[in-house]
Amino acid sequence: MFNSHKAPVKKLLAATLLLTFLSSNTSTGDEEKAPIINYKTRFLPEIGKNGMVVGPEKLAAEIGLSILKDGGNAIDAAVATGFALAVTYPRAGNLGGGGFMLIHRQKENQQTLIDYRETAPLGAQSDMFLDESGKVDRSRIYFSHLAAGVPGTVAGLLSALERYGSLPLEVVIKPAIKLALEGFPVSYALNYEIKSRAKRLAENPEAAKLFLTTEKSAPPIGSIFKQGELANTLMRISEKGRDGFYRGLTAQLITEEMDSAGGIINSKDLDRYAAIERAPLRQTFRDYEIVSTPPPSSGGIHIIQMLNILEELDLKGMRLNSAKYIHYLTESMKRAYADRSKYLGDSDFVHVPVTELISKKYAKTIGKGISPDKASPSKTISPGDVQSHESPDTTHFTVADRFGNVVTNTYTLNFSFGSHIAVPGTGLLLNNEMADFAARPGVANAYGLIEGQANGIVPGKRPLSSMSPTMAMQNGSPILATGSPGGSIIITTVLQVILNSLVFDMNIASAAAQPRVHHQWLPDTLRVEPGIGPDTIDILEQMGHNVATSSRTLGRTQSIALKDGWLYGATDSRRAGGHVASY
Ligand code: GLY
Repeated sequence: MFNSHKAPVKKLLAATLLLTFLSSNTSTGDEEKAPIINYKTRFLPEIGKNGMVVGPEKLAAEIGLSILKDGGNAIDAAVATGFALAVTYPRAGNLGGGGFMLIHRQKENQQTLIDYRETAPLGAQSDMFLDESGKVDRSRIYFSHLAAGVPGTVAGLLSALERYGSLPLEVVIKPAIKLALEGFPVSYALNYEIKSRAKRLAENPEAAKLFLTTEKSAPPIGSIFKQGELANTLMRISEKGRDGFYRGLTAQLITEEMDSAGGIINSKDLDRYAAIERAPLRQTFRDYEIVSTPPPSSGGIHIIQMLNILEELDLKGMRLNSAKYIHYLTESMKRAYADRSKYLGDSDFVHVPVTELISKKYAKTIGKGISPDKASPSKTISPGDVQSHESPDTTHFTVADRFGNVVTNTYTLNFSFGSHIAVPGTGLLLNNEMADFAARPGVANAYGLIEGQANGIVPGKRPLSSMSPTMAMQNGSPILATGSPGGSIIITTVLQVILNSLVFDMNIASAAAQPRVHHQWLPDTLRVEPGIGPDTIDILEQMGHNVATSSRTLGRTQSIALKDGWLYGATDSRRAGGHVASY
């Protein structure tokens, strides 16, 4: 018995060794050597040469890839993916929300950012979400028609395409129309996403009609999910461009719904909405340059601020996710989020001391207060004293093309399925982005973030965001493009992917897979993902950190690393359904 078992085991071992030898040594002679970064690791990226789309949902990522294969550039593919996700990924893909698109154009060696964040309607008032006792009315700010900001997604995608795309709108939007019209099989992930929000969706008859069965449950896995009204809205956009959304029938349906249900977005709000092209923020981190979002996102400022604080420490010597490393990471996070609470808002409306906040000098000043072995309680940390020299559930995807262009895009309805309110006749969900304003400065928002007057509600103003599509550059070319959903968690998630890639030399799949931590100053809690060991947690607690381990994961990155002409993609394994499409 013993021997007869042993023989096959030996054979298997020999075959495995032979295969390993062949796979590492066989050469067809004509292949280019793909220098797989850190091959000896448990997590491996997907590899591509000519084009790649990494996103939260497979059909939309494949649509982006087909645009690349048909000769489109990264911007064409990103716009096609953005429209397709509005169909296939309704929890966060959207026409009714807003976001930020960071673009690298290789030939021009230029990075630019399209800000298509929602705006407060003209009828908005600073106290519109306070009840008679002055408390924030959570149901009004999260789940009413008033919760919606003026949508920016259509203007943003169209503006990116007009300025930097190479294909006509009808070509890039066509696959989304087809998917909405003909439907597609409900995946495990879509069924799960709708199921987990079914109760709330059922409260709005229009949302229930769009997303639930007659028994008010999620459409079964494998059933065909069609969205005829959304297809019509997309067709109007295809035919008339921005007028197909911000004017005409779509605008009329939105304003009629607002009028009938106590909302305040009117035709003037829609007509005047404009995406804004902005210069991204830049700062060096060791031999690299970090390029990220400016206000009205807080993301770029705080990623850079934390990197500035951490830059001169021997992070590699501390070792990834050791107690000492997590301690320094946490202390930098606390200080950055304390500043967020005071200084950040829409810089078109309030003064945000951006240059000072991202300066190395300022990081040195606030970094001085960090003890090497003792946590600073959040109550002892106040927003830093910035000396101004001047007279404020989301999803992500990343695209790279064979021309060297890269696009990394985060957009959102805020909560998963936004306000859970759909506009009759349009197939679109309203965002609840007004909740990202400080409804009452000093009171925590949906993400527990405390914000100040800089982020108060003003008509036409953009609410402060944490969305952080970010690139790391080396010698002028992107070597990493990444971003994540997660509200306040986005910023620390992106930070850790950057550190894992640039400091710990991990391939992008490993960089994404490592357990993450998050601290946002208030509440004074260090959240750690499963995978941070119990001994490490003990040491952190001895240092004075209030550690909370939860089974809830932190962020969900969609990233591409670029090296030696190869593309390495990783969709975060923390949630189901993500996909790397490449060729
Ligand atoms: N709605 C989440 C964010 O913009 O940060």
